[in-house]
Amino acid sequence: MMSVVLEINDLKKIARRRVPKMFFDYAASGAYTEGTYHSNEAAFKDIKLRQRVLVDMTGRSLKSRMTGQDVAMPVALAPTGLAGMQHADGEMLAAQAAEEFGVPFTLSTMSICSIEDVASVTRKPFWFQLYVMKDRDFIVNLIERAKAAKCSALVLTLDLQILGQRHKDLRNGLSAPPKINLNTLWQLMTCPVWCMNMLRTRRHTFRNIAGHAKNVTDLSSLSSWTAEQFDPKLNWDDVEWIKKQWGGKLILKGILDTEDAKMAAKTGADAIIVSNHGGRQLDGAPASITMLPEIVEAVGDKIEVHFDGGIRSGQDVLKALALGAKGTYIGRPFLYGLGAMGKKGVTKALDIIAGELDTTMALCGKRQVSELTHDVLHDYRPAAMRGKKGKEKHG
Ligand SMILES: Cc1cc2nc3c(=O)[nH]c(=O)nc-3n(C[C@H](O)[C@H](O)[C@H](O)COP(=O)(O)O)c2cc1C
Repeated sequence: MMSVVLEINDLKKIARRRVPKMFFDYAASGAYTEGTYHSNEAAFKDIKLRQRVLVDMTGRSLKSRMTGQDVAMPVALAPTGLAGMQHADGEMLAAQAAEEFGVPFTLSTMSICSIEDVASVTRKPFWFQLYVMKDRDFIVNLIERAKAAKCSALVLTLDLQILGQRHKDLRNGLSAPPKINLNTLWQLMTCPVWCMNMLRTRRHTFRNIAGHAKNVTDLSSLSSWTAEQFDPKLNWDDVEWIKKQWGGKLILKGILDTEDAKMAAKTGADAIIVSNHGGRQLDGAPASITMLPEIVEAVGDKIEVHFDGGIRSGQDVLKALALGAKGTYIGRPFLYGLGAMGKKGVTKALDIIAGELDTTMALCGKRQVSELTHDVLHDYRPAAMRGKKGKEKHG
């Protein structure tokens, strides 16, 4: 099976067969028309690379740093809710795969395995992603738990105060654990290995929240409880408050606009992630990669700029780095690996991306990720030149 897996799309095909429809679709979908979700991927295809020859390509390295931390390649695993429903104990397995590979794993607030579960099976620090809820005692408590687990960065997500509607989730009756009815029973029966693995673990619901937040008795309604709990009043002052509570590396996730990027740079956070939440929130927003150049231009000298959205290969990673990102994140690529074959699948996804990044770098005549600039892009025009026809072209 492993030998035929050559690209991320191969993992996606296997995951589609092995993961119950409601959870596969939860990963492989976007908000409303899914226009932004699809354009995130498509936009990468419009960026062309410069082929260079007869450059010594020996001694290549993908090693880099993200917020001052060493990484084997500048590709972190993005925070994704319910990863423990793609595969039993999914977050623990993905965190182990990331640790062994040498890239950061980001645990979502909305994970199945808890902060403590993941800490119990890893040795190196992982990152924790925070959603801010109205219950501030709970948030303080979550931050304290992340500190106790020695998490080395807090990723504060800014683009999900209310949930973008994903039609498939409603049609499929998504819940964790799944509620059994005629619709869902069929989805589960067609995935017997997934079911067997799930029966072997007790981790079936949102364990960062269950037993920690007040007034939560009915676990099956936890997802709707959480939807009600996200704080729609969240604002820039709260970022300040969270920064103080946390006191460590802070990454602001979900910036897609230069004005917001400038505000974010003023907070003193360590990095921002240019992101549209993988097209899962504001459908109709531009493809994430198309916003990266102007955001880098606006704040790249003030704050480290990271990127996510639509990366499906090492070539996409290279393009994001060339456009100024210092680090990137993958969401669906590792989830497909996880759903396809657990920890091995996550490792496979990372191997695929590293291989593609390495080969592409060599064919562009570069040996270090730090050398990846506009110079590797064909016919690249900086954001400021866009719309001004006939102006200077670079590369
Ligand atoms: C299934 C799924 C669940 C997600 N859950 C979260 C989450 O809990 N918190 C968060 O900040 N982002 C979440 N995201 C967004 C990712 O962190 C990331 O921004 C996005 O997946 C990047 O796009 P990509 O999947 O094309 O790589 C989720 C994405 C997916 C696909």
